[in-house]
Amino acid sequence: MKLCYQNIQIIDLVNDWHKQDKIIAFIPTMGGLHQGHLSLIDIAKQKADKVIVSIFVNPAQFDKNEDLDRYPRSLNADLVELEENVDSVFIPNVKQIYPNGISKYVDVGMIGRILCGKTRPYFFNGMIQVVEILFKIVRPNVAIFGQKDYQQLLVIKQMVKNLSLDIYIESGEIIREKSGLAMSTRNQYLSENDAKIAANLYRILTYVKHEVLQNKKIDVVKKMAEFDLKQYFKLDYLEVLDANTLKQITDNTCQIIILSAVFLGSVRLIDNIIFLKRNNYV
Ligand code: PAJ
Repeated sequence: MKLCYQNIQIIDLVNDWHKQDKIIAFIPTMGGLHQGHLSLIDIAKQKADKVIVSIFVNPAQFDKNEDLDRYPRSLNADLVELEENVDSVFIPNVKQIYPNGISKYVDVGMIGRILCGKTRPYFFNGMIQVVEILFKIVRPNVAIFGQKDYQQLLVIKQMVKNLSLDIYIESGEIIREKSGLAMSTRNQYLSENDAKIAANLYRILTYVKHEVLQNKKIDVVKKMAEFDLKQYFKLDYLEVLDANTLKQITDNTCQIIILSAVFLGSVRLIDNIIFLKRNNYV
C-alpha cells in the first residue's frame, strides 16, 4: 500500500496505472474509518484493478462553530484497516488541496439547497469543492460514495454531469449497527445511552416506510412520525420524496426515499431509507 502525502506522488502513481490500462476506483473519506467506509472498499475492489482511499478532514465543509477541531482523527488505526485492502492512501494537507484558499461561493444546484443544504448551507459548498479538486488530482475511473449521505451523493452526481467528468459514480448501501443506528464517524460523540436513543431514528423511519407501503396518507404518517421523533430528538427535517429528484412523489416516481436529520444534544444524525414504490394496479 503506497502512502501519498503530496499531490505529485498520487498524480505519478495514477499516471503509471493509467498507462498500464488499469481501472482505478477512488473513495474519498475524512478518516475515522468504520465498517461503512470499508464496505465501499469492497465495492471498489469488485469494480477496479486499483483502489485509492483519501483521508482529508475538509475544513471547507465545517461551519465556524462546528466540530472541525475535535473531528475524530485516527490516522494510524485507519492505515491499519486499509493496509491489506487498498493500493494507495492519499493523505494531503490543506495547502495541497487549497493552494489558492477556499472559495466562498460554489453553485451546489437546487438539490444542494434543500434539506441539509438549508440547515448547513456551507456544507455542500465545501464538500463539492473538495470532491472536485480530489477528482482532478486522482482522476479515477469510478468513485464510490455511501447512500448514508444520500443528498451528498446526488450533489456529486450532478457536479460530474455539469462538468462532463468521465468518472462513474457508484454508491453503497448504508451499513448499520445491530441496533439499526447508521454507522458514522460522529457516533463516537454519543454516550452509550445516547447511542441507544439514537437507534430510534431508524426505527421511526422503518415505521414510515411500513405505513407508506400500506398506502397511508403521507401527510398523516409524517405528522405521527414527527411527533414520535420529537420524543427523542430535536427535529431538523423528515421528508418522504421521490428518490431521484428529491421532489414530491408523483405518478412517475419509481423509488421513494424517507430522509431525516435530527439533533441529539449537539450531535446531528442523518439517515434515510430508499425503497421501490408499489404499483397500485387494480
Ligand atoms: P465521510 O463522512 O468520511 O464519509 C466517506 C464516505 O463514506 C461517504 O461516501 C459516506 O457516505 C460513506 N459512509 C459513511 N457512513 C456510511 C455508512 N454507515 N454506510 C455506508 N457508507 C457510509 O462524506 C464524507 O466523508 C465527506 O463529505 C467527503 C465526501 C469525503 C468530502 O469531504
